[in-house]
Amino acid sequence: MSEQQNWAFETRQIHAGQEPDAATGARALPIYQTTSFVFENTKQAADRFALAELGPIYTRITNPTQESVENRIADLDGGVGALLVSSGQAAETLAILNIAEAGDHLVASSHLYGGTYNLLQHTLSKYGIETTFIADPNDAQAWRDAVRPNTKLFFAETIANPAGSVLDIAAVSGVAHEAGVPLLVDNTVATPYLLRPLEHGADIVVYSATKYLGGHGTAIAGVIVDGGRFDWSANPERFPNYNTPDPSYHGLVFKDLGAPAFILKARVQLLRDLGPAVAPFNAFLIAQGLETLSLRLERHVSNAQQVAEFLEAQEQVTSVAYAGLASSPWHQLAQKYVPRGAGAVLAFELAGGYDAGIAFVDALKLHSLVANIGDVRSLVIHPASTTHSQLDAEGLAAAGVSPGLVRLAVGIEHIDDILDDLRVGLDAAATATGGATKSSEAA
Ligand SMILES: Cc1ncc(COP(=O)(O)O)c(C=O)c1O
Repeated sequence: MSEQQNWAFETRQIHAGQEPDAATGARALPIYQTTSFVFENTKQAADRFALAELGPIYTRITNPTQESVENRIADLDGGVGALLVSSGQAAETLAILNIAEAGDHLVASSHLYGGTYNLLQHTLSKYGIETTFIADPNDAQAWRDAVRPNTKLFFAETIANPAGSVLDIAAVSGVAHEAGVPLLVDNTVATPYLLRPLEHGADIVVYSATKYLGGHGTAIAGVIVDGGRFDWSANPERFPNYNTPDPSYHGLVFKDLGAPAFILKARVQLLRDLGPAVAPFNAFLIAQGLETLSLRLERHVSNAQQVAEFLEAQEQVTSVAYAGLASSPWHQLAQKYVPRGAGAVLAFELAGGYDAGIAFVDALKLHSLVANIGDVRSLVIHPASTTHSQLDAEGLAAAGVSPGLVRLAVGIEHIDDILDDLRVGLDAAATATGGATKSSEAA
């Protein structure tokens, strides 16, 4: 294992967390398509349930295929452990509920994926967990001012979907730690290849593995990575769930589990009770994707940079949100946090607003109109009528989604074909709007 620790990211994305199968020598990751695992005897069964012996019990809680993927992602992100679950939404829900409960309060960036905003604003509030949203995610004072005695965590996206803002992780985690709470970040758009948030002060990382980790648009999954550094025992009143005996687990006090207390609690308590387990086959598909993560991301970000520059140069395009552009308000933060590239999700606004956006999207041939990002294929969507359609006007404005905004998830096809397709869309938008341009709108 010691030589593995010295391996580069590109090597670890293929090898970390997986040995050839002990039973058969299978080199590729076996899919353990089983619900349950035979115990040798009642003592072993009892020891497994009591966590005295670690080993698989039931696929809702552990499975060797899932475990390999968890260990690989924890390794790539520099965490002490990970938990693979059935979706990105499940990962966020479990990560939050592993810390907060009824009567508690969160502080979150308003630059969020629409589903996450809904989870915080509407669903968790029904269960007594209230969220204060910060309009500018890099306004440290606003985070500080939002803290209350019952605040349990800070939440933000490292590169926001679709706003494209880059989080100043060091600054926001500094405020979180001053307040005695952990910073939980969603690193879906960046991936651990472009950004490892734990190295900058974040405490817990979540991903929609559905996106770049799987990378091919074939499986829904999510993952939580535990940095293992947050001290849950420093403030027992704030974190009673870690400092008082859990009656559902033989009186276990989770802080006694040491560094991986958070991720073990998420598995043995919340995954056990709430049940969003990932299917072994989907875990296998995520593992397949991980093996080429760096290669795909290199091409994704190179294509995205070229697409952003192309769009910015068009008279028809009024704004492009992509932190890789020198004109972006987040360019400096991108150079600090994601020097290899600012991801491959970008959003732009066309002159002619809503009508131009719709005509553009409907004309594309290579780009698929889908509610996803992080596929090898180039994808397009109109967020205001789809991914963010459940948000009201205030929520849309806070998330940076204007009526005419178009979001692209730039794929890894040849850049010439991607640009040609975008030209077709621009022509259609021009026809639909009678040739609206930046200057005709300004006039
Ligand atoms: C940034 C971000 N986080 C979380 C999610 C939710 O992930 P999933 O669709 O896997 O539940 C998404 C989905 O689009 C996302 O873009």
